[in-house]
Amino acid sequence: KKVVLAYSGGLDTSIILRWLQDTYRCEVVTFTADLGQGEELEPAREKAKLMGVKEIFIEDVREEFVRDFVFPMFRANTVYEGTYLLGTSIARPLIAKRQIEIAQQTGADAVCHGATGKGNDQVRFELSYYALQPDIKIIAPWREWNLTSRTALIDYAEKHQIPVPKDKRGEAPFSVDANMLHVSSEGKVLEDPAVQAADYIWSNTIAPEEAPDKPTFVEIGFEKGDPVSIDGQKLSPATILTKLNELGRANGIGRLDLVENRFVGMKNRGLYETPGGTIMLVAHRAMESLTLDREMGHLKDELMPRYAKLIYNGFWFAPEREMLQAAIDFSQQAVTGTVTMKLYKGNAMVVARKAEKSLFSADWVTFEESAVADYDHKDAQGFIKLNALRLRLKKMLQG
Ligand code: ARG
Ligand code: SIN
Repeated sequence: KKVVLAYSGGLDTSIILRWLQDTYRCEVVTFTADLGQGEELEPAREKAKLMGVKEIFIEDVREEFVRDFVFPMFRANTVYEGTYLLGTSIARPLIAKRQIEIAQQTGADAVCHGATGKGNDQVRFELSYYALQPDIKIIAPWREWNLTSRTALIDYAEKHQIPVPKDKRGEAPFSVDANMLHVSSEGKVLEDPAVQAADYIWSNTIAPEEAPDKPTFVEIGFEKGDPVSIDGQKLSPATILTKLNELGRANGIGRLDLVENRFVGMKNRGLYETPGGTIMLVAHRAMESLTLDREMGHLKDELMPRYAKLIYNGFWFAPEREMLQAAIDFSQQAVTGTVTMKLYKGNAMVVARKAEKSLFSADWVTFEESAVADYDHKDAQGFIKLNALRLRLKKMLQG
């Protein structure tokens, strides 16, 4: 009877809005999130109003996005398949969560998203919906309707007085998803991994070769694993990511051209830009390099691919993700200090790091005559001998 639609205000979700009213004869509530995608959101209100929507939710969720989703993920140094910083994956659970909350608030019994039937996003949205409200009804128009060609879509829009911008008449050359953490471009002209992508695809960073010839230095302050300041100035989570994005963009940092394995089975080529996130990841690792116990750090690194896969596959609200998060958060207690980064033509390099509770000890590591009486070279000799025992036995007894 009532459905909460994740509504961007764009052509596709406008068609979905009308299609929902038509097909289900139901009232539609729209939810539009400002995730820092850099688009005006007020036009979405006007469009929804014109289509008779009475309950319109437009919300700035940037701080929540960075504080409760991006930062917790970065505490784990999360990358999927060695490269992807999960910019799209991490935004889906937040959108889904707000949709469910709005459904509860407005008495809606269904939710709807605009993801296709071939990708990861449908899985992420729907696993989150079900985890938060087990009896929710889900409408996925792309899996239901017969508007399967661009012509059919445009015809439908025109028949229903939905304005079609000139540049949307033809097939879009590729699909874009944007938020504060990243911009992704994939599909259509980008599909073939053997074909080099045109330069104009990149929208969130300048090319490294066009970046300044002088490096930029920036000091990032961390508290318990989260960035809290830039060059000594305390800033909110979203403000920090915005600043790092600006610095990364201007220095050509965070471009990625990859082939990934989708949860639903196929391989997919994408071009992703994560300027601020790329800087943050390198800086966070540097902070941990001083403050984490070796075995805690190594265990964290072993768990990271599992954690990344959970987020990629849409299991943000699953108990095993929460369990891993608790362990990751526990490990961050001493991850407090500052990292100085040098940004230069596509590179984010660490040049210095300092921590309140650093485990680095000059006295213990120095090549000079040591001041600590407690380190005995004889201990090292025995340590090596016992570690070598099984290697020697193997060689002696088995050759
Ligand atoms: N392939 C990436 C992922 O699965 C990006 C998806 C982009 N989504 C989109 N609707 N264009 O996370
Ligand atoms: C989509 O299918 O809607 C975008 C791609 C993806 O979800 O992986």
